[in-house]
Amino acid sequence: MVSEIGFGQSQLIQPLFLAEGLGKEEPLGGLPGNSRHTLDSLLTQVEKDMAAGVRQFLLFPVPAQKSNRTFAADFVGTALQQMRQRAGGSAAIWVDTCLCSFTESGHCCVHDKGGRQDLGATHSALGSLALTYVKSGADGVSPSDMNDGRVAHLRKTLDDAGHDIAPIMSYSTKFASNFYGPFRDAADSAPQYGDRKSYQLDVRNRSDALASSRRCAEEGADLLMVKPGQPSADLIRPIHEQTGLPVGAYQVSGEYTSLVLLAKENFVNFDAALIESWHNLRRAGASYIITYGARLARGLGLAA
Ligand code: PBG
Ligand code: ZN
Repeated sequence: MVSEIGFGQSQLIQPLFLAEGLGKEEPLGGLPGNSRHTLDSLLTQVEKDMAAGVRQFLLFPVPAQKSNRTFAADFVGTALQQMRQRAGGSAAIWVDTCLCSFTESGHCCVHDKGGRQDLGATHSALGSLALTYVKSGADGVSPSDMNDGRVAHLRKTLDDAGHDIAPIMSYSTKFASNFYGPFRDAADSAPQYGDRKSYQLDVRNRSDALASSRRCAEEGADLLMVKPGQPSADLIRPIHEQTGLPVGAYQVSGEYTSLVLLAKENFVNFDAALIESWHNLRRAGASYIITYGARLARGLGLAA
């Protein structure tokens, strides 16, 4: 996925949403072709996607029950085992590792009684989710929470449990952005109060944005990422030069939906605009791209 030359579908990662307890697949209005899945519809989707050439998946688990402290991810473990059976060794399965779909607050961290971020509790919750995922067949974990020190904690947790080869794809430069709206409906993860500005980055601060990725690299991340993608394109090469690691771009829900809505009004040709947007990110230095349209790539004429 992170080869430095060439560009094909193997460098695109397809997100998938698994909603626990869902009766029936729910197509997502803002993200055509994407759904909130039941376990059955997820497995069918994986098979279809693999037949269409997708080789990288990023799973977003959405639990039925929200909680403040204890997060049950058994449903994800079951799903991963079955995904692994269907995918065999031909596709990589990453799991987005965060708490915002699990917490009552919709925040990416645990809060203490006084309402402050509880880093220790947050780390251990993320660590146990990550272990469940990797033990159940995930190839790697992708922490999207932006809490200080989480990559070091995950690395140590995985190493201590004998999963030292499981890679960490860190959302390493992630801004508090307005472009995540369609996603938060899909993942049922909108903050119930306040915003994410105490842990996500301020779009005005370049130095901070670079330092955040450097810290992830020092803490043991294997792959880095900017998010949102196109709005952060200026940072991709500098991060790569400062760390030597592959740096990907997340073409987030708001970016993707913009193209959908432009096309709906006949202002762009969707297919052409989508492929342009990938080429733009690739030119900016992205090693890999997370995109809701990964499954369309072959149909758009992109190489394998
Ligand atoms: C949750 C998470 C978010 C996205 C990926 N993981 C939303 C957020 O931070 O609020 C955004 C993805 C998208 O908009 O496509 N930590
Ligand atoms: Zn989150």
